[in-house]
Amino acid sequence: RDFGTPAAKSKTMVSLVIDGFEVTVPEGTSIMRAAAEIGIQVPKLCATDSIDAFGSCRLCLVEIEGRNGTPASCTTPVAPGLKVTTQNAKLAKLRKGVMELYISDHPLDCLTCSANGDCELQDMAGAVGLRDVRYEAVENHFQPRQNGEANPLYIPKDNSNPYFSYDPAKCIVCSRCVRACEEVQGTFALTISGRGFDSRVSAGLKSDTFLTSDCVSCGACVQACPTGTLQEKSVIELGTPQREVITTCAYCGVGCQFKAE
Ligand code: FES
Repeated sequence: RDFGTPAAKSKTMVSLVIDGFEVTVPEGTSIMRAAAEIGIQVPKLCATDSIDAFGSCRLCLVEIEGRNGTPASCTTPVAPGLKVTTQNAKLAKLRKGVMELYISDHPLDCLTCSANGDCELQDMAGAVGLRDVRYEAVENHFQPRQNGEANPLYIPKDNSNPYFSYDPAKCIVCSRCVRACEEVQGTFALTISGRGFDSRVSAGLKSDTFLTSDCVSCGACVQACPTGTLQEKSVIELGTPQREVITTCAYCGVGCQFKAE
């Protein structure tokens, strides 16, 4: 189970109420993680168990009684006596709106994408109930050509690394890869270049490819990517490895089958 943010180590315990259920967790735990401890999964894209929460995707918004606004549950720590709501009509509408913006700048090629079935963006679109997108992509990062002209925002795939491929057209700029490179690997090979709608993940300077950058091919960024942006070449060519194997017992002639994980 993915708890969303790293575990807090404090010995001081804090009790709060989430969606009507009381939960007690170490001080410093995020609301998202406290909710996961009692089986409530708050939608998320940028938080993981292995990197510090940084609140970039804005999908995990919650309401806290007596506080204004809708804070991100991944970056908001628990406090004694908090009363948190993770699901209601307002939060559902906000999350759907956020997802709609992501999908409006994303290629709709799920059926032929190598990440199909193993894509958190796809999962979250389903989880928040997104069925169509109202916005027309006047500017986008995923079409090589627009209105017959070369799209200045389109950056072609970087296939320079022998082990994985980087497709900027599918990037949602959640920063998970950048932070995994820093926090998990300590390499600092990746950065976010540009601002606002122009921001993109890049390996070092603009002219750099992954191969000419400081990347050490550890794969931490590929592991962290929630979409098909950073993909192992073996997965692109052969598909996602089977997670379960059906084996036929060789002991007698009955032919019993069992699953080996
Ligand atoms: Fe909290 Fe992304 S998961 S802002």
